[in-house]
Amino acid sequence: MASSISITVEVDGVSYTDDVEPRLLLVQHLRERLGKTGTLIGCDTTNCGACTVHLDGVSVKSCTMFAVQADGHQVTTIEGMAQNGKLAPLQEAFHQCHALQCGFCTPGMIMQSASLLKENPHPTETEIREGLEGNLCRCTGYQTLWLP
Ligand code: FES
Ligand code: FES
Repeated sequence: MASSISITVEVDGVSYTDDVEPRLLLVQHLRERLGKTGTLIGCDTTNCGACTVHLDGVSVKSCTMFAVQADGHQVTTIEGMAQNGKLAPLQEAFHQCHALQCGFCTPGMIMQSASLLKENPHPTETEIREGLEGNLCRCTGYQTLWLP
């Protein structure tokens, strides 16, 4: 068995120090060790985007990196978007516009949308389509994601 490595990662504003195997994926660390089960695993092959989180404010697919690579960094998950029990405006907008069906892709879609809006606060429909092209919806509920 590979020896463990001690890592410290700030997740949703809380610092966690854990011993992890070098091969442990960040998404597994978040879900299985830290209980952040809002970050989902849809493919495990960097295709679907369900596992998208923010690493130091930049969206990443957490099945694409090892937990040890997050050592010393800040991670925000979908659980970290709501503040004081209140949904973030983007979460509220998804709810209001029914931009979801089964909801499996929704955490990743919201995290990627937040990144997109941070870079471009007023994207066109084309820019939204391009910005979310790394996130798949198995319900094919795409239209409500970019139409008002
Ligand atoms: S689970 Fe990470 S991209 Fe699909
Ligand atoms: S709403 Fe079901 S996978 Fe997107």
